[in-house]
Amino acid sequence: MHQHVLWGIDDGPQNREEMIALLRRNAEQGIGIVAATPHALPGVRPFDIELYWQRLKEAQSYCSEENLPLRVISGAEIRYTPMTLSMLLDRRIPTLGDSEYVLLEFWGTVDRGTFENAISQLFRHGFLPVVAHVERYRLFWQDLSFLKAIKEKYDVCYQMNCDFALKHNLSASLLVHRLTHNQIADIWATDAHNLETRPPRMAEAFQFFSERKNRKALEMFVTEERFC
Ligand SMILES: [Fe+2]
Repeated sequence: MHQHVLWGIDDGPQNREEMIALLRRNAEQGIGIVAATPHALPGVRPFDIELYWQRLKEAQSYCSEENLPLRVISGAEIRYTPMTLSMLLDRRIPTLGDSEYVLLEFWGTVDRGTFENAISQLFRHGFLPVVAHVERYRLFWQDLSFLKAIKEKYDVCYQMNCDFALKHNLSASLLVHRLTHNQIADIWATDAHNLETRPPRMAEAFQFFSERKNRKALEMFVTEERFC
């Protein structure tokens, strides 16, 4: 759903070898589909869509040539700006798997009004936002019912980062508990950038919640059974 896997586009892999290493690690982690979502900052930083499709094809070709059990689909982690909608409508930034779903992120200190207006605007134009790493928006921590209300109103989806769940500190654990047990968060993703500082840790997160028999958190993994 969310990974910086393509090389030479953002702060993900800096060369083809690093991309290949990340692709292979995904397969080792049991990940079957990965959305290649480099950062996009509409109207602020150019997004080279031609280069994007070229690199996506390169990753897809590598997986098929090497028989890697991994499908790479399109996407972008789109920071919400006043230019976001027009760039999406002009297809100058990719949606998730070429669908109506878009991976959307905000500044860390986004307020309720901006958050809702952005989601409402995209929704009215036929896009379904998937909010990236919902655990980061600290202005909503005190009152998570706001996130729930937005979800009920706009059919938005909330993504959490796996490695946040693996942080061994009390405040992170409490937030994970509140977001999962109140059924606010919907899906896990790796948001991996490389193998050193931000590797994909999907398998570790799955094991972590399996050991704790945390059914609600486990339901946020898209497993083969859920596809069936
Ligand atoms: Fe990201």
